[in-house]
Amino acid sequence: MLNNIILIGFMGAGKTTIGRELAKLCDSILLDSDKVIEMNHDMSVNEIFNRYGEEYFRQCEIKFCEFVRNNIKNAVIASGGGLPMRYDLRELGSVFYLKAPLEALIERVEEDRDTLRPLFSRFEIVGDLYHSRINRYENQADYTLNALDSISEISNKIYSYMKGY
Ligand code: S3P
Repeated sequence: MLNNIILIGFMGAGKTTIGRELAKLCDSILLDSDKVIEMNHDMSVNEIFNRYGEEYFRQCEIKFCEFVRNNIKNAVIASGGGLPMRYDLRELGSVFYLKAPLEALIERVEEDRDTLRPLFSRFEIVGDLYHSRINRYENQADYTLNALDSISEISNKIYSYMKGY
């Protein structure tokens, strides 16, 4: 049985941070789609976008999902914000949507100077992108959480849900 925990949500929702905490709680490991793709290319997501284009990056994301579907049964998966648009993540395990208002996400991503996000540099499209995605996030979610709650609160909720209590 697939027992993976899949975290979805817009950029800045905290998927990687929550994923790390959850992996600890579940005594499992975190696989972050962006990080796996970066490691395989020895390039940042931003560099991959610039060099090969967004479509290439999306194909890498699908390849990542297929690998997880065929090989991974018990991990925490943090997905890139665009992944649910191309792939139904329910095929990989239980899906948790970290939901937050656009304004809060913009604030967080602006603060996070370590990760340059190619789609965030075009500010005029961020709002449209957010609104075009939220239905899909909602539809794929087995469970929706408030991404503005504390890291431990969110992680514990997901952990309890997975344990069935
Ligand atoms: C993207 C989100 C990013 C990364 C890439 C594209 C998107 O991941 O995959 O920059 O389309 O929303 P995070 O959601 O982890 O920032």
